[in-house]
Formats: sequence, structure tokens, C-alpha cells
Amino acid sequence: MDKKNIAIITGANSGIGKEFTKLLSKYSDIDEIWAIARNQDRLNEVRRNCGEKIRIFSMDLTDRANLNAIELLLQTEQPDVRYLVNCAGYAVFCDYGDISKEVSISMIDLNVAATVAMCVMCIPYMSEGSHIVNMSSQASFQPVPFQNIYSATKAFILNYTRALNVELNSRGIRATAVCPGWMNTRLIERASIGAKRGTTKFPHMTEPDVVAEQALADANNDKDISVYSGYIKLSHLLSKLLPEKLVMKVWLMQQDLSESV
Ligand SMILES: NC(=O)c1ccc[n+]([C@@H]2O[C@H](COP(=O)([O-])OP(=O)(O)OC[C@H]3O[C@@H](n4cnc5c(N)ncnc54)[C@H](OP(=O)(O)O)[C@@H]3O)[C@@H](O)[C@H]2O)c1
Repeated sequence: MDKKNIAIITGANSGIGKEFTKLLSKYSDIDEIWAIARNQDRLNEVRRNCGEKIRIFSMDLTDRANLNAIELLLQTEQPDVRYLVNCAGYAVFCDYGDISKEVSISMIDLNVAATVAMCVMCIPYMSEGSHIVNMSSQASFQPVPFQNIYSATKAFILNYTRALNVELNSRGIRATAVCPGWMNTRLIERASIGAKRGTTKFPHMTEPDVVAEQALADANNDKDISVYSGYIKLSHLLSKLLPEKLVMKVWLMQQDLSESV
């Protein structure tokens, strides 16, 4: 029997993950989409909108037992994973003192550990022409005070993905890191905890659908990084040219936080 061609999307019930799910559900060569996130109702809604291809996995990816369950399912079903899209992630906008040890570790567990685990588990089931798409961020381009853990997790994802892309070259598998600026999603609402020192300004906000469209086009064109919009491309360039201390100062000025440090 032929292997099933599948896409696996984490964070599939909201924001950019939902947009990737909509786009990939239209691919005629994808038989099934494994849509992963915690909230079952929102997953059901995605299934209603995107159709029967969607197979729902309501699970918390910070729980290692759930990662093991996915690995077991891959072993049992032996699919061809054509796309792995890692979107599950969150941020907290505050200073070091406003975030607990538990939340700090959980953010690293989701943004970093779960993404790495999904890649490691899926790569054995990928073939030539398959794609890994990992959500990084503009926040990966330099250290970001008052988002210190979040920006560090995204820098990890950018470097991890680009290095992985080189390692996978000989197998014809591509890995793409997606680095958008602000997108109008639930992440911002969840991250804004009303901290005294936190992010409150979100310039050049975009909608997630256009970012997902560009990211998928970039992945299909074998790019290892996808940066949406001229403004974020300029910010990427400047972060390479200017000293990081200066870039951090500009960030603090933009957020009206210069006086607080
Ligand atoms: N929004 C931005 O401005 C922005 C900018 C750059 C990069 N990004 C990145 O884009 C990615 C997607 O974020 P988004 O903006 O689309 O935000 P979002 O709408 O909040 O989506 C986050 C997704 O992650 C899932 N999720 C959260 N915690 C989870 C857990 N413990 N286990 C499994 N799934 C979990 C959420 O579903 P449940 O809550 O139901 O689990 C949701 O589907 C993130 O990696 C984020 O860092 C966002």
C-alpha cells in the first residue's frame, strides 16, 4: 500500500498556524493534516473550515508524554511527512522579575524543546522534496530586553533551522525559518500581562495570512529564511550591520522604556 502523504502543523488552531493549515489543506498531494494544539473547540472549528483532511490532536506539547505519543503514531502509521510546520509558541512581555521559573521553563519547553523534538521525530519519515517550516521571529535578530526569554528562544530556532537545512541538503529536505514582525494574533493578547516594563507598541503589524502565504512560497522555493515585508528585511539588515547595544537602545526608545533601565 502507498504511504500516506501528510502535513503536521503545531499551533494549528489559531494565528499563523491556522493560516498554514488552510493553505496546506488545499494541496491535492497532501492526504491528511495532523493539526496539533490544546484547545479542542478551536481545533474542531479548523476542521469544519478546512475539511475531512484535518485530523485533530488536542494536546499540550510541553508534556513529553504527548511528544512520545506522536512518535509512536509515526512508527505505527509510517507516513511520508511532506510538511512539518512548527507554530506552537508563546511570549510574555515583561521584565525578569515578573515571570516565574515555571513559566520561563514552559516557554523554552514549547518554543524550543517541542520544536526540536518534532523535527527529530519527523525527519526519519521525510523524503526528498519534504519541508520543515519553523516559526522564528524578528525578535531573533538581536537580544530583546523585556522579552528576554522569548527572543532567545527565537534566536535558537533561527540558528537551529538554518544549520539543520544544511545538514538535510544531501537528502533533498528543506528547512525554513520564518521571521515575521508583529502579527495580529492571540499571541500578543496572551503575552501582554500588564507588566510595568513590557512591550506596548506594535508597529507595522501585519495579518498572519499574508505571512503564511509568503512563508510557504519561500519554503517551496527552498529558502532557508523567510522574512515578510520591506520593513522587517531592513530591520534584519540593520541588526547585522549595527552593534547589538545600539539596536537594543533603539528598541527601548521605540517602546518608551529607555528611562526605565
Ligand atoms: N504574533 C506575532 O506577533 C508573532 C511574531 C513573530 C513570530 N510569532 C510566532 O508565531 C508562532 C505562532 O504564534 P501566533 O502569533 O500565531 O499566536 P497564537 O495565535 O497565539 O498561536 C499559538 C498557537 O500555539 C498553540 N499552543 C500554545 N501553547 C501550546 C502548548 N502548550 N501545546 C500545544 N500548542 C500550544 C495555541 O493553541 P492552544 O492555546 O489551543 O494550545 C495556538 O494554536 C509562535 O511561534 C510565535 O512565536 C508570532
